[in-house]
Amino acid sequence: VKGSARGAYDPAVPYRAIADPVQLRRLLEANLLIAGDVALGDILRHIASEACSMTGARYGALGVLDERRETIEQFITVGLTPEEERRIGPRPTGKGVLGVLIIDPQPLRIADLSSHPDAAGFPVGHPPMTSFLGVPIRVRDQVYGNLYLTEKVGWSEFTKDDEALVQALALTAGIAIENAQLHRKAEAAAVSADRDRVARDLHDSVIQRLFAIGLSLQGIIQRADVPATRDRLTEAVADLDDTIRQIRSTIFELGMAPDARGPRAQILELARSLQPVVGTAVPVRFEGPVDTSMSAEVTEHLLACMREALTNVGRHAGASAVDVRVRTDGATCVLEVADNGTGMASDAASERGGGLGLVNMRRRAEKLGGRLDVASSAEGTTVVWSVPL
Ligand SMILES: Nc1ncnc2c1ncn2[C@@H]1O[C@H](COP(=O)(O)OP(=O)(O)O)[C@@H](O)[C@H]1O
Ligand SMILES: [Mg+2]
Repeated sequence: VKGSARGAYDPAVPYRAIADPVQLRRLLEANLLIAGDVALGDILRHIASEACSMTGARYGALGVLDERRETIEQFITVGLTPEEERRIGPRPTGKGVLGVLIIDPQPLRIADLSSHPDAAGFPVGHPPMTSFLGVPIRVRDQVYGNLYLTEKVGWSEFTKDDEALVQALALTAGIAIENAQLHRKAEAAAVSADRDRVARDLHDSVIQRLFAIGLSLQGIIQRADVPATRDRLTEAVADLDDTIRQIRSTIFELGMAPDARGPRAQILELARSLQPVVGTAVPVRFEGPVDTSMSAEVTEHLLACMREALTNVGRHAGASAVDVRVRTDGATCVLEVADNGTGMASDAASERGGGLGLVNMRRRAEKLGGRLDVASSAEGTTVVWSVPL
């Protein structure tokens, strides 16, 4: 290193400053730990002890900063007996010379710690430490902590070569920490994406299906003549409602958002996604405080009814235009789907002609204390679904 060509020493690539093949091999081995399946704590402990042994330091320590870079979160020491550690007491908090390393992350080489202007002094029971070499653990401009050594045995101070070596080890430590943090973040992201997917699934498929079962049971209740059967069915419907409520509150308690967007965004998204089914553009007009006054429950029913009404337009109306309006005055909420199609056959409006679409829209409205009105003529069909809020 000494006398090497100018520019050959680049602090970002400290390995260039190391000529000794044995040291280079040990460095390489430390690096290989990152590629292997070794726990971060073990890698850091190995690096700290290699730093001691390769520079002849009696003591070494490696501190990892918390993510806000304010305090030392993880602290690994080498050379202290457990008894000595106990006597020193609490771990350093980043004051004094160690604070200098955090505020100004540059290598710091001191012959006599006690004479340094920033020396904060040692706690009682701390073994005497004179020579000091500290380097930041950094990768590019990100500082993760510091690695420092004290008491170079048989020498009055650490050398420039020691500095290069320890910097190279610190870079390895930095890459290991960065790696571990990225890994943790990726895992956390995967877990939360999965949770949200499960929540949406529970919400969209399971709840919707339970609800549909409840609605068809309600249809059977009206036709059942045996009072005991009616009672039993009514109980089953109440059970289902209870189950749905429980699933909803579990989803909520687990902090899983089935859909974090407001009603307006969900309505617009649904209109957009049904365009191919309807066959025309699906403009939506809003009136009143839709996002602030509609509960998640009302929104969910409204979306289901809007889907059904628009699907009907696509399947039965032969319309060239459709118009969706959602309006609320804070007390009631009204969904209106109007098309300019052929209108319903006369028996369809009485709901005997088709499937369960119109029936379920009505039941959803009635469940919330509201109603469904259908007006149909040769000029088109208008479905008005209104519920109190
Ligand atoms: N927008 C509409 N225009 C014309 N006819 C419609 C419209 N919506 C519903 N209908 C008629 O009403 C019937 C009942 O609708 P629905 O209850 O949704 O059952 P399905 O869609 O399964 O047939 C349909 O079969 C259709 O004949
Ligand atoms: Mg239908």
